[in-house]
Amino acid sequence: MAIPRFSSLLRSRKFAKSDCLVASIGFVLIVFFLSFFFDPTSDSVPSVDRSPPIKSPPDLVKLTLSSKAKERGAFCLDGSLPGYHFHKGSGSGSKSWLLHLEGGGWCSTVASCSARAMTMLGSSTYFEDEVDFQGVLSSDPSQNPEFFNWNRVKIRYCDGASFAGHPEAEFKNGTRLFFRGQLIWEAIMDELLSMGMSDAKQGILTGCSAGGLATLIHCDYFRDHLPKDAAVKCVSDGGFFLNVPDVLGHPTMRSFYHDVVNLQGVDKSLDQNCVAKPEPSKCMFPQSFVNNIKTPVFLVNPAYDFWQIQNVLVPASTDLDKSWAKCRLNIKECDAAQMKVLHGFRSSLMDAIGKFHQNKAGGMFIDSCFSHCQTLMSATWHSPTSTRIENKTIAESVGDWYFNRKPVKLIDCPYPCNPSCYNLNFT
Ligand SMILES: *[C@@H]1O[C@H](CO)[C@@H](O)[C@H](O)[C@H]1NC(C)=O
Ligand SMILES: *[C@@H]1O[C@H](CO)[C@@H](O)[C@H](O)[C@H]1NC(C)=O
Repeated sequence: MAIPRFSSLLRSRKFAKSDCLVASIGFVLIVFFLSFFFDPTSDSVPSVDRSPPIKSPPDLVKLTLSSKAKERGAFCLDGSLPGYHFHKGSGSGSKSWLLHLEGGGWCSTVASCSARAMTMLGSSTYFEDEVDFQGVLSSDPSQNPEFFNWNRVKIRYCDGASFAGHPEAEFKNGTRLFFRGQLIWEAIMDELLSMGMSDAKQGILTGCSAGGLATLIHCDYFRDHLPKDAAVKCVSDGGFFLNVPDVLGHPTMRSFYHDVVNLQGVDKSLDQNCVAKPEPSKCMFPQSFVNNIKTPVFLVNPAYDFWQIQNVLVPASTDLDKSWAKCRLNIKECDAAQMKVLHGFRSSLMDAIGKFHQNKAGGMFIDSCFSHCQTLMSATWHSPTSTRIENKTIAESVGDWYFNRKPVKLIDCPYPCNPSCYNLNFT
């Protein structure tokens, strides 16, 4: 009975702690690299096994609460207004738009969504007034050579279902929770279109983790709402969650997505051809719909994605004897048998993207790092020492693909072959 166990674990204090860590992981990574402040909810801050990169100067961008949200009924889980951070483009980038959808896990029960509604992942009451734009969002051409002068928007995540919940699913057991993810996406799109995006010549929808999944879910909507003659593509970072059983053979992630989809009515936002088949919650997994996306898609995904290793393959609930305790926190600590399991996970990813690999318009950068969300820091996105495959950074690879300079289908050799990885260490 994986479903009740997983959801009850989500509620328990100990797990809730690590859930917070994983849920805010992009956040934790940024916190680590910038050393701005320590996340009090995390037990430990990850370190890397190479010397940390030089700090980039902060590029702080103010929060805007959405002005179109109220009239459209688009609210965060707690009923507060959703928001975004907007950095205006300039020069040759003034008609180019890059939207980044923030990530941060999902909530699958009334209890976990209620808890989330009291955090910055469920309420704008807790949003920072400004956030630091780094990596793909950076204004610094040395760090973000292709998109530094575009209009750049970070859309905050406060619905708990990858911007895809629907209000019909509300009013469960008297709890007042708002499941308005789809409406948040539509309201903020409206607002950005009225701010000049309706004249865009170039557009990219991107996002990381739960936001990387949202990128795939909303990619064709984004394309359809930009001018017909605009060059529009989507870049999903760390969003290719796999429909695989955990190490005990239980469908932990599938059960979890099943609960998210049912709780928040997400099926209405998913690929309708897929949803028509049995088990609509399977349609939350990119492998079940990525080949139906009409707009060109680029996948940035580590083959040893630590979030997936810690939550999909070896969730805490499967490791009662703690034999995985070290390995799941630091890939260097894995023994030969565990490495075999991790290589098996990589093979599952290769199988899942097999058909997509033949898609001419698609692109990919599948590195062999123990990482997650690699577009948001110069250390992994673009710098003299950042992660590379065939001597290309992620920024150069995405640029080559987006501007049609050459096809990009980069797949790294298996771990530990790539010395340019920043493998995180959570111990
Ligand atoms: C509502 O409450 C009932 C009884 O306590 C419970 O069985 C059911 O799972 C709850 N529904 C949700 C969505 O939490
Ligand atoms: C890798 O790329 C860098 C900069 O793009 C270049 O200076 C260097 O010569 C390249 N190395 C190899 C081995 O091609």
